[in-house]
Amino acid sequence: MNNFTFYSPTEFVFGRETESRTAELVKKYGGSKVLIVYGGGSVIRSGLLARVESVLSDAGIAYVELGGIQPNPTDPKVYEGIELGRRERIDFILPVGGGSVIDTAKAIAVGIPYEGDFWDFFIGKAVPEKAVRIGVVLTIPAAGSEGSGNSVITKLDGLKKLSLRTPEVLRPAFAVMNPELTYTLPAWQTACGITDMMAHIMERYFTNTEDTEVTDRICEGTLKAIIYEAMRVTIEPCNYGARANLMWAGMIAHNGTCGVGCEEDWSSHFLEHEVSAVYNVSHGAGLAVIFPAWLTYMAEHHAGKVAQYAARVWDVPKSTDCKAMALEGIRRFKSFLHSIGMPVTFRELGIEHPDIDLLVKKFHENKGERVGNYFPLDSKASREIYEIAN
Ligand code: NZQ
Ligand code: ZN
Repeated sequence: MNNFTFYSPTEFVFGRETESRTAELVKKYGGSKVLIVYGGGSVIRSGLLARVESVLSDAGIAYVELGGIQPNPTDPKVYEGIELGRRERIDFILPVGGGSVIDTAKAIAVGIPYEGDFWDFFIGKAVPEKAVRIGVVLTIPAAGSEGSGNSVITKLDGLKKLSLRTPEVLRPAFAVMNPELTYTLPAWQTACGITDMMAHIMERYFTNTEDTEVTDRICEGTLKAIIYEAMRVTIEPCNYGARANLMWAGMIAHNGTCGVGCEEDWSSHFLEHEVSAVYNVSHGAGLAVIFPAWLTYMAEHHAGKVAQYAARVWDVPKSTDCKAMALEGIRRFKSFLHSIGMPVTFRELGIEHPDIDLLVKKFHENKGERVGNYFPLDSKASREIYEIAN
């Protein structure tokens, strides 16, 4: 196990009707004028936005709104939010929604106090030292942004989808997590979220770091719980227990717990970010196509931990043939993804003829010549993985 620092200051307020505590939490963390950020309208249709605004008003907290954040959020809304936030002199940001809304709020939060272009932080030209405080009301378990210090934004110019990672500055002060708010999720979005949270665990699990038994078992146990709850929620979308476990799993998957002491490998996410940047597909569905392809490549080149994953997560019988075990685990993973309605090839994702030259070019332009740690990918390897996914 490697040395590590694990800093996770977010206050999680979990359970039924917890959104009614939003005003109390905003006050606790120093907010007096709030920028509410939301997406394409689900929170209007469900009545959640009105409920949150009403508790803020009752507590005497002023607010302004920025709506219309789209999935795979882009930079124009960040600039709009920075300008609005400065003009209105807001001192707190409250995203009400999923990863796209939260990530936009985070980019606005670092952009407001910074004199330069917020994009400097995403291209590594500057490091954020401060941010406007954020509290989250979560509506979809998926990206894990409610507990992470990350933000992922696409710059329209060049379709660059890049992430900013800064746990010390960007972890939310609080996250309100009411599983009932996820009853309205379409089956597709539920499945995309399940796939994304599984991927967040697996990007950490596939490591060469030794002596990570506790972290490995946390990963395997959480993956098994997600698989179990995924089957329950597919049959019964309003099962509170299943929704609650999935909501908490989405947070555990990405707040860092599953990777402490390990060298992580985010290749599948980075391969996927090029797909969702170019084709604007749901991030989770893109991962359902990319992750099995990455695993298949690894079964050939570095099968060890894939075989362990197959045995412990997918109950593949142990044998001395690691590659065969790995391939059987991948077969079971893909069959699970199909059972929750996810695609596992580009064609099933609706991309008949992916431009693999472009994806490989952008991947290495954005992430460097060799990407990842478990088995670093050069352009031959990344091309092969995109081709396996085809
Ligand atoms: O926009 P609205 O109308 O709200 O609808 C959303 C959206 O269409 C809908 N939705 C959300 N909650 C709902 C609901 N519909 C009905 N009922 C509800 N309760 O779901 C759709 C997807 O929302 P989005 O926020 O895009 O989903 P998600 O949370 O999966 O976020 C995806 C984004 O997060 C990034 C992804 O790349 C992608 O851009 N990621 C962010 C990470 C982070 N900050 O740590 C890590 C992840 O790996 C990921 O890359
Ligand atoms: Zn993700």
